[in-house]
Amino acid sequence: MGGGIAQVVAASGRRVSLHDSLPGATDRALGAMRTSLEKLVEKGGADPDEVISRIEPVDDFVRADLLIEAAIEDVVVKEEIFRRADEILPRDAVLASNTSSISITKLAAATERPEQVIGMHFFNPVPVLKLVEVVRGLQTSDETTAAVVALAEDLGKVPAEARDFPGFVSNRILMPFLNEAAYALLEGVAEPEAIDTIAKLGFAHPMGPLALADLIGLDTCVAIMEVLHEGLGDPRYAPCPLLRQYVAAGRLGRKSGRGFYEYG
Ligand code: 3HC
Repeated sequence: MGGGIAQVVAASGRRVSLHDSLPGATDRALGAMRTSLEKLVEKGGADPDEVISRIEPVDDFVRADLLIEAAIEDVVVKEEIFRRADEILPRDAVLASNTSSISITKLAAATERPEQVIGMHFFNPVPVLKLVEVVRGLQTSDETTAAVVALAEDLGKVPAEARDFPGFVSNRILMPFLNEAAYALLEGVAEPEAIDTIAKLGFAHPMGPLALADLIGLDTCVAIMEVLHEGLGDPRYAPCPLLRQYVAAGRLGRKSGRGFYEYG
């Protein structure tokens, strides 16, 4: 998702520094961006070379005006990123997180600028989906919120504001749906293809819940369910054991080549 976010920000004319601690990840992201940008050219999108020339892979934090963190859904990893960013980025910079569910208030507490910490939650595939869920932490200022709303609009997205509750709005609604689909499979109610066909044709969803879980990443789905379960304290949010089992087996979805389905 970090690559997708970098792509839309660069396509808006801004310069982007792209960092990933995993070796080779930024190269893979740049390759995916080129494929995506080439698809978008036919629809009036910007020149792929021009967009990519605005993105510079970097080895560490740089003194940017805005950080958009899109690391794994692990609060310890994210807190460390916010702590380091707070040390390195200029005092007036905004620190945003693309977290799916982790508390913005908690990430803000790792910094000395909680009023400038905010959730900027994009949706996969980022170049295609229009929504940015803007999440205000307990201390996020009106000024920071207004700046991020204006930025989202300038990126061609539609911002919608939510408060800092587990899963915010998007994943409080979406994840239990995906989790329930995994339970339906586990309990033998239907085969994966039938479950997805029912959602696609019965509810006019662009893809079924199991295919969508594979797109998001089953490890991310489990992490989000854990945040809902712990944060809302209701057993109905417990991650489906089948999701946990697939993750334990390394079946993480599209990114590992296999989840509920196999990918070439
Ligand atoms: N970049 C540019 N264009 C892309 C693209 C990308 N990464 N991915 C797809 N497209 C384009 C295709 O080229 C195609 O264009 P065309 O209509 O001109 O041919 C169009 O989008 C549709 O793509 P496809 O024909 O390949 O397939 P679909 O019609 O099934 O669309 C999809 C693919 C856009 C992924 C669609 O299935 C979809 O919207 N699925 C739901 C995705 C969703 O719900 N995402 C949210 C996940 S939740 C999340 O991210 C939050 C997190 O916190 C969990």
